[in-house]
Amino acid sequence: MSRTYQIAPSILSADFARLGEEVRNVVAAGADWIHFDVMDNHYVPNLTFGPMVCQALKPHAKTPDGRPVPIDVHLMIEPVDALAAAFADAGADYISFHPDASAHVHRSIQAIRAKGVKPGLVFNPAEPLDVLDWVIDDIDLILIMSVNPGFGGQSFIDSALRKIEAVRKRIDASGKDIRLEVDGGIKADNIRRVADAGADTFVAGSAIFGKPDYRGVIDAMRQALAAA
Ligand code: DX5
Ligand code: ZN
Repeated sequence: MSRTYQIAPSILSADFARLGEEVRNVVAAGADWIHFDVMDNHYVPNLTFGPMVCQALKPHAKTPDGRPVPIDVHLMIEPVDALAAAFADAGADYISFHPDASAHVHRSIQAIRAKGVKPGLVFNPAEPLDVLDWVIDDIDLILIMSVNPGFGGQSFIDSALRKIEAVRKRIDASGKDIRLEVDGGIKADNIRRVADAGADTFVAGSAIFGKPDYRGVIDAMRQALAAA
């Protein structure tokens, strides 16, 4: 089956003193989505940025010819609902949350959808997929963590590949158009394996922002994805 691959640079590894410029530069370098990692120093042991920063960056998430680039908000926060609503108001296109961070997963999904935003669920490396038995028809994105959430620059955990394969089967069986995104430790030299397991959307933070030539990294990722 042919899929369109999307590359979603995580601004967690961007220069926080120049975030608007970093977003514009990485979009000009070929980013398909902007991945926005929200951490609360509670669900994860780190603290990043909130809806006001998302709102400030929204006008920068555009291609040089003015086409909007989706903002993919990854909530690593507990509880979920109040801030999810605030991110919807701040211009998020996708909002994903960890099911173990919401007491009422179905309700949180519906609340995101009611705001006109695409809901997603995120699964930590040791988190089972069982909740998908009940909500796969209600979501637009499944995000598989290939590192433990909280920090950029960690190494890819190989068991994520088996989990991606399992999710791909569930998505294909559902017959729904659901993106299968993977987050953590993705680089040009492992992205092909991740795609072969069934992923179609790739978060990359340190691999892109850690190099001076963003386009060079994104092009190398696309070449790896295009290779048979
Ligand atoms: C980790 C975040 C990731 C992170 C990935 O909690 O969810 O999005 O930015 O960073 P890299 O690509 O450096 O592993
Ligand atoms: Zn993330």
